[in-house]
Amino acid sequence: MRSRRSTRACAAPSPITVSCLRGNVEPIRLMKPYLDYSDVEQDFRAAFESGIFTRGENVGAFAAELAAYVGARHVFFATSATTALWVCLKLLGVGPGDEIAVSDFSFPATANVVEDLGATPVFVDVDSQTYNMRPEELEAKINARTKAVIFVDALGNPTGLHAIKAICERHGIPLIEDAACAIGSSEDSRKCGSIADLTCFSFHPRKLLSTGEGGAITTDRNDWAEWLRVKLAHGADGSKGLGLDFVDYGYNFRLPELQAIMGRKQLGRLDAVIQRRLAIRDAFATALAPLGLAPQRVAENVLHNVQSLVFRVQDTVDRDRLVQALKGDGIETTLGTYCLSGTTYFRKRYDDVQPVAAALEATTITLPCYDDVPVDRVVDRIARHMN
Ligand SMILES: Cc1ncc(COP(=O)(O)O)c(C=O)c1O
Repeated sequence: MRSRRSTRACAAPSPITVSCLRGNVEPIRLMKPYLDYSDVEQDFRAAFESGIFTRGENVGAFAAELAAYVGARHVFFATSATTALWVCLKLLGVGPGDEIAVSDFSFPATANVVEDLGATPVFVDVDSQTYNMRPEELEAKINARTKAVIFVDALGNPTGLHAIKAICERHGIPLIEDAACAIGSSEDSRKCGSIADLTCFSFHPRKLLSTGEGGAITTDRNDWAEWLRVKLAHGADGSKGLGLDFVDYGYNFRLPELQAIMGRKQLGRLDAVIQRRLAIRDAFATALAPLGLAPQRVAENVLHNVQSLVFRVQDTVDRDRLVQALKGDGIETTLGTYCLSGTTYFRKRYDDVQPVAAALEATTITLPCYDDVPVDRVVDRIARHMN
């Protein structure tokens, strides 16, 4: 599986490396939900019997529990991390002429929201081992137009977040943490959601806590919380006559009641889930080291939730072909994540591709990670395809 390095998808894989799924071997998926229907059945029935599907007791309880869990003063829900990020930029008044410095190794939503508001995403390259924004690169890109910084906990890893926060504080620039992948992670014993000025989470099915779709914003700032409270309620504040008093214009990105029930169940078991994922990560890391696959580096003062179990292959390995070969074995894997500055859209628009993020997009692989994942079988197939 050796190749010339290329960032393009490779041509059809060679017949030597791709085998077909034989016999009754069960396919190995990338991720399985940490929630069964039986977990929510009783509370779903109660919601149906009450007829309350929005703004019910579970939404309020989930917000309070999430705030307590991450250690934040305020929690607001959104329909996704994308809408959560977009709302945070609106809150900061981001618009044309502003620059937002963004980690370049992420899902495009991180930069799309900046683009949507007419501001300019300034791509900051990342560390080749932690995959997170490099402080010196950020320093070099901050200028008078920088309105905010969006730090991404790449694949759930907050390594270096406090260092970026210190830079933002020195320059008086708000720090938004794109913690779409990082629920339950922490740095210096402080959970993501309690460190940055604003933090955004995702509850998408690839995340450790999933409500199907959904997201949340956390902040400690009372004035921002006040803005969010009114804006996320269509601009209503209190009542006027028979109806609401619309003191502003606003939005609706609410999380419905059934989704809140799903979220509460998973939040209660999240720490245990993370410990089990760390054990799976360690087992893979030990077994894959002789093959030259390096795990994402996580600093010692960081608890990583292992949202995505990502390794970097050596430059001589054709990662795309490896993924295809594993697919032929019924093992689902995928790339780590994206180099934002290298997507077709952003490359055409800004022509500012960041080299480390581009290399990571081409050389990282996400492996399956869930409780009963057959580590030995996955490692065995990787070894065969690499030899
Ligand atoms: C780092 C990052 N930010 C934002 C998002 C968007 O999240 P959502 O699907 O909840 O909008 C994702 C989704 O994978 C992500 O990984």
